[in-house]
Amino acid sequence: MTRTKNLSAVFLAVGLAAGLSACAPAGSNSEEEGEASSCNVGISMPTRSLERWINDGEGLKEKLEAKDCTVDLQYADNKTDQQISQIQNQVAGGAKILVVAAIDGETLGPTLEDAKGQDVQIIAYDRLINGTEAVDYYATFDNYKVGQLQGEFIEEQLGLAEGEGPFNLEPFAGSPDDNNASFFFSGAWDVLLPYVESGQLVVPSGKSPASNDEWTSIGILGWESADAQAEMDNRLQSFYTGGEKVDVVLSPNDSLALGIEASLDAAGYQPGSDWPLITGQDGDVANVKAMLEDRQSMTVWKDTRELGTQVETMIDALVAGEDVEVNDTETYNNGVLVVPTYILDPVVVTKDTVESQLVDSGFLEAGEVGL
Ligand code: GAL
Repeated sequence: MTRTKNLSAVFLAVGLAAGLSACAPAGSNSEEEGEASSCNVGISMPTRSLERWINDGEGLKEKLEAKDCTVDLQYADNKTDQQISQIQNQVAGGAKILVVAAIDGETLGPTLEDAKGQDVQIIAYDRLINGTEAVDYYATFDNYKVGQLQGEFIEEQLGLAEGEGPFNLEPFAGSPDDNNASFFFSGAWDVLLPYVESGQLVVPSGKSPASNDEWTSIGILGWESADAQAEMDNRLQSFYTGGEKVDVVLSPNDSLALGIEASLDAAGYQPGSDWPLITGQDGDVANVKAMLEDRQSMTVWKDTRELGTQVETMIDALVAGEDVEVNDTETYNNGVLVVPTYILDPVVVTKDTVESQLVDSGFLEAGEVGL
């Protein structure tokens, strides 16, 4: 692949040859384009309470330390102030590259602008950081496609395109402060809302956003399982009192799905009998077990090892002062700039493909999930 220093030529090339990889010069938003950077990396993850972030942080740290990089890995307990001070300490401690999975994508601008002023390069990890030019690159899975896969799974399993229905649906959305959550919801709701409007899908709780923009009305802050459980309890106790049953739940990720499954248990639903279709995301161990027990129908798998490898490749290029390979320069506008991005593809995993996809790839051990 030819590499070019001229960013506008890169974007033009990308516009003309959509879908091919492109390059953004190292430090594409800083004046010192192309300067090499030392491999001193601060990794800032949101929380240890969700399995995937443990895999993300520790996996990337291991890859970078294997090439003698200096790495500081921090988890911020889903507290934005804590994440800000951890990032400030990483920069003060000499980090020249930051890899940040933001808790709240709207809050890190000033901190990252200070870092940029000290020639730090910034990679947004999995979640876009908004409202600042101090984001050089973004690495993520296709967030809209995550939701689309969930919506299409429901459409296919229920035979909605063939006119089947009506079915009782309870939709949920992710944390209102998470930029990804709006993409997840839009991907799913673009598939499902037409079926709500046609009456094939009915939402007895009434928690049915009239448009994608209203997704935060059904958002669960911090992706908390307990809050999803409480919300599902409330819906079941308030709107399913006459013997009617939930047929399908749109859950944007596995942590919410766990809470919803606990609520269904408490309400007496039985797997293999009246248990609803439930979607998820992340391939967490507890949820893979739930799939094997017919308590969850699918999860959208994002192989965090792939994302780590992609970020490692970005860091290699930054350290070498070379251009950074991206494959999308149009989708992720953070309100100040369209961030050069590398997008990876998520895939659907079901009970029938757990072994071939998750175990055979080494993502999970068979013993972890009782296989
Ligand atoms: C999202 C992330 C998902 C999901 C959620 C909870 O931003 O892309 O994988 O699990 O956060 O951490």
